[in-house]
Amino acid sequence: MKTSNPGLWLLPGLLLAAVAFCGSTWAADDAMPGKFSVPPPPFSEGIYPCSQCHQGMPVNRTQRKLEQMHDDIVLKHMPDGWCFNCHNPDNRDTLRLASGRIVKFEESYQLCGQCHGPVFRDWKVGLHGKRTGMWNGEKQYLLCVHCHSPHDPVFKALKPLPPPVKPSDSVRMRP
Ligand code: HEC
Ligand code: HEC
Ligand code: HEC
Ligand code: HEC
Repeated sequence: MKTSNPGLWLLPGLLLAAVAFCGSTWAADDAMPGKFSVPPPPFSEGIYPCSQCHQGMPVNRTQRKLEQMHDDIVLKHMPDGWCFNCHNPDNRDTLRLASGRIVKFEESYQLCGQCHGPVFRDWKVGLHGKRTGMWNGEKQYLLCVHCHSPHDPVFKALKPLPPPVKPSDSVRMRP
């Protein structure tokens, strides 16, 4: 046999690629956003970026009833908790963990996971919340805050929506 079989090189090649790939995901653990693929955070219209108002505005750490803005937010979560247990006073466009680590809103599950460890574990493996996608493909998660308000998190049953209309039905319904 004169020429080496290219197939023999395929296996080590694949292994190297796999190692490189895993290495990059592990390294990404802390730094890279979107470790879990999620839809955009469910902000209400026009509220984000928060810095449009908060940049240059003094930080008010006093626990109080908000009146000039966000008067709809009344905390019913974490007895004795306050806004800056979660929000970053230095940059309102981000969240802040108890460790001081800054987290994007796309990764708010990190925040929740600090105190709800078992649920966070279940969520990661798809036992809690909702995960879609193929077993061997990219998985799409919902953020905790897609289902629980961070300010008043007890789950409220949603009003069921009417079933979708099949295109064929809507055609038939036309006069
Ligand atoms: C338990 C952590 C936590 C606490 C405490 C908390 N927040 Fe939040 N807040 C969040 C998270 C997470 C989001 C992002 C929700 C999303 O992704 O849409 C958020 C979203 C918001 C928003 C955007 C809401 C919208 O309409 O889209 C405002 C404004 C806000 N918080 C203000 C406050 C204020 C003011 C306080 C204190 C009175 C507070 N938050 C306390 C975690 C918290
Ligand atoms: C349209 C302007 C505006 C936007 C946008 C806005 N805020 Fe505010 N925010 C305010 C004002 C004004 C206050 C003070 C309200 C008061 O004292 O009654 C405030 C207060 C707060 C407070 C209480 C602490 C403090 O420094 O007074 C938090 C926390 C907060 N905002 C978070 C957010 C977050 C998070 C967002 C984005 C998701 C956001 N805000 C977007 C205007 C805004
Ligand atoms: C600093 C700790 C802390 C953080 C961070 C935190 N929670 Fe909580 N959470 C609590 C505590 C304590 C309770 C129970 C007491 C209460 O309900 O006020 C609670 C209650 C809850 C409940 C209600 C459980 C029930 O009784 O049905 C839900 C849901 C929840 N949290 C979701 C979240 C989500 C989502 C986030 C992230 C946005 C989050 N929590 C962040 C401490 C935390
Ligand atoms: C697809 C919607 C959905 C998502 C996403 C979701 N939850 Fe839940 N969660 C629920 C429902 C439904 C319940 C059950 C409420 C009940 O029993 O009344 C619940 C219950 C809870 C409870 C109270 C019961 C318990 O098991 O301790 C906590 C705490 C909680 N969720 C935290 C979280 C956290 C943290 C995340 C993100 C890591 C998350 N949830 C993601 C829907 C969701």
